[in-house]
Amino acid sequence: MAYTVSKLTDYSAAALERAVAKLLAALESEAGAVSNEADWKVFRDRWLARKNGVLTLVNDLWLKAAPKDAKRDVGQRVNQLKSQVEETVEATRQRMLGGTSASKLTSERIDITLPGIRRPLGAEHPVIKTMNEIVSVFRNLGYSVEEGPEIETDYYNFEALNFPPNHPARDTQDTIFIAGQESKPLRDRLLLRTHTSPVQIRTMEKQRPPVRVVCPGKVHRNDAPDATHSPIFHQVEGLAVDTNITFCDLKGTLDHAMKALFGSSVKTRFYPSFFPFTEPSADVQISCIFCGGKGTRDGGPCRNCKASGWIELLGCGMVDPNVYGFVDYDSRKISGFAFGMGVERIAILKYGVDDIQLFFNGDVRFLEQFG
Ligand code: DAH
Repeated sequence: MAYTVSKLTDYSAAALERAVAKLLAALESEAGAVSNEADWKVFRDRWLARKNGVLTLVNDLWLKAAPKDAKRDVGQRVNQLKSQVEETVEATRQRMLGGTSASKLTSERIDITLPGIRRPLGAEHPVIKTMNEIVSVFRNLGYSVEEGPEIETDYYNFEALNFPPNHPARDTQDTIFIAGQESKPLRDRLLLRTHTSPVQIRTMEKQRPPVRVVCPGKVHRNDAPDATHSPIFHQVEGLAVDTNITFCDLKGTLDHAMKALFGSSVKTRFYPSFFPFTEPSADVQISCIFCGGKGTRDGGPCRNCKASGWIELLGCGMVDPNVYGFVDYDSRKISGFAFGMGVERIAILKYGVDDIQLFFNGDVRFLEQFG
């Protein structure tokens, strides 16, 4: 039962001591039961509150009620008791604080043994990671890096790359034009670049041969998004112009790059193609990395290469002499090759991703796998 202060009937020293001992025992046991700050406040108020606190009751019931001749002794004892109670209340508070600075409450205390707040570390986006990897393959071959604007003029995106106005090759790149430019000459009209090839022109305009550059960047096409298309994607363009550059150099360079990216057992094959800015042009195919070029997998046709054993990966060719005409290079003295590859396409193959949209949805569960 909880301790209560009762009146003293016997004011003898012995009786007083018994009453004090009972009170102190209650004090100690209640102090021992305090286990948190809220408990402590209740404990403090029970013993020290001016109104109905145990000490106040002791004052009223013991001291005030004492006969005259006992007042002195009772007064001394009560004063002693007061300090003892105050000390115990304070010591209990200290215990709550774990012995740290007396001015801090438990809730404000810092427990340095608790685990810290862990901020999740970001990681390179798989597209950027792949782009950097491609760029570094060419850096190691002595290429430097050039970048160009994403908002381009018709001149750089098409005309200087030998796509004349109204040429059907323009239709292969469904272009997003900036509206309201009908009053400008066609070549000055702005569009979102459909490929990184305009950076070839910008580089050759400011630099004389020899040129060896790769141009990574974002490109835009008016394509509906699906598992293999995205209106925004990335390319790495390459250009090498010097004296005596041949198709052999192009083949050797890209064969090396594909082996560096996909492993040394990968084979390459050059298939005739068409781009206005290269002549001859080729599509590069690599031996299927899923079936090892066999065309069959798990006893059936390989889905990834449609059983052909080959996967088409990038475009390339020898720079068309007409292009040199736009940048004031002498096509009788120099020659060069160019190539362009889609970064997402390469990332899809390298990481076995089955939907290009995953790169753009921003789902951390997908992205963190590349951290
Ligand atoms: N620009 C082409 C495209 O986006 C890719 C390309 C093909 C770039 C051949 C080249 C090249 O530099 O030589 O489809």
